[in-house]
Amino acid sequence: MNRNKIACHCHNVTYGQIIDAVRDGADTIEKVREKTHAGAGCAHCRDFIVHMIEDMKRFPEDYAQ
Ligand code: FES
Repeated sequence: MNRNKIACHCHNVTYGQIIDAVRDGADTIEKVREKTHAGAGCAHCRDFIVHMIEDMKRFPEDYAQ
């Protein structure tokens, strides 16, 4: 996982920022948006971020670093 890769281009939010937000308790797209602004623009990243949140819940070991 490249933490520096951009997940939301509208707000330059990285994978790492989303991972940190989810670890910090943001378990919905709305909470991730509040913490990072990801998804608050064109919303094209929204489905991907929803997938990422669900994937982190199911496979937390994949996001251990
Ligand atoms: S790419 Fe995330 S809101 Fe546009």
